[in-house]
Amino acid sequence: MTLRAVVKGVGHYLPDRIVPNSEFEATLDTTDEWIRSRSGIERRHFAAEGQTTSDLAVNAARAALENAGLQPDDIDAIVVATSTPDLTFPSVGTMVQGKLGMTRGFAFDVQAVCAGFVFALSTANAMILSGQARRVLVIGAETFSRIMDWTDRSTCVLFGDGAGALVLAAEDGTGGVTDRGVLSADLNSDGRYKEMLYVDGGVSTNGQSGKLRMQGNQLFRQAVEKLATTADTALEKIGLTGADVDWIVPHQANLRIIAATAARMDVPIERVILTVQDHGNTSAASIPLALSVGVARGQIKQGDLLVAEAIGGGLAWGAVVLRW
Ligand code: UT7
Repeated sequence: MTLRAVVKGVGHYLPDRIVPNSEFEATLDTTDEWIRSRSGIERRHFAAEGQTTSDLAVNAARAALENAGLQPDDIDAIVVATSTPDLTFPSVGTMVQGKLGMTRGFAFDVQAVCAGFVFALSTANAMILSGQARRVLVIGAETFSRIMDWTDRSTCVLFGDGAGALVLAAEDGTGGVTDRGVLSADLNSDGRYKEMLYVDGGVSTNGQSGKLRMQGNQLFRQAVEKLATTADTALEKIGLTGADVDWIVPHQANLRIIAATAARMDVPIERVILTVQDHGNTSAASIPLALSVGVARGQIKQGDLLVAEAIGGGLAWGAVVLRW
């Protein structure tokens, strides 16, 4: 018997305000056509004034709990992937815990920028396999609209706000690849690439939260190679290849990156969950959002083999293979 971390519920939340590409044409030297053709993005959601990352996260968490048929006090731990916390501390995780009215368990944040959800999922899986927790809420939640430089057309048209959540629970499996749950993970980072994507402020640097800076086309080249390699590596660890995958659930940064990565893995684009057109790049929220939307659309079904892959600031990148 092998312990597995199995998905019991999924949910998401997007703020009400939808901003089409055309809205940027009034203030920036850009066009809907440029944004669509270079990134695949058509619209994104922005949080309302006063709406924080933990507000988005708790809504996604409630949806996932309802989907799982569980109450907040059934949960042992909350792991939130975010780079845009409400405050420097405490963690968004503990804020979600408080807002859910949870009186037990523990909560914390994981910060690996756009790869955050893959790192959080791998961490939650490790906690379940080690017996530290039996039921874990894993959340990706971001308000990247708060760290945009609205005068920088090369970044501010690309990002959006949102949250997605999974409930993972311990279940006995056989140890084989037909088990439901997390089957393998591959995590990487390389701090030499810091300049490619970073925020130019922070507590110990200048006491400000700063704005996002990105060398987009250089990151693009790194992204395709690193994403395909990490996804293939995670699959190889359990003796599988792209041919075994029902769905790639990629970080939704750019349709061209997503398509090129799938092509390198020999997976047809029809087997990729795409939400980038509607959400833009929501950083750590993009994979759980895509999982939740993929299930709601009837694309992802129980028993499907999924590979989730992401890259972001650090650089940090990785992939998780799971059977839904
Ligand atoms: O989530 C973390 C991971 N993030 C990523 O992986 C993002 C990776 N990068 C990308 O998605 C793409 O590189 C971008 C979408 C950011 C840019 O696409 P690109 O095809 O790499 O364009 P580029 O940066 O090479 O820029 C091409 C041109 C430039 O003009 P010149 O130098 O050719 O005259 C830019 O100044 O497009 C210009 N440009 C714009 N034009 C209209 C940049 N932003 C805009 C804009 N509207 N919003």
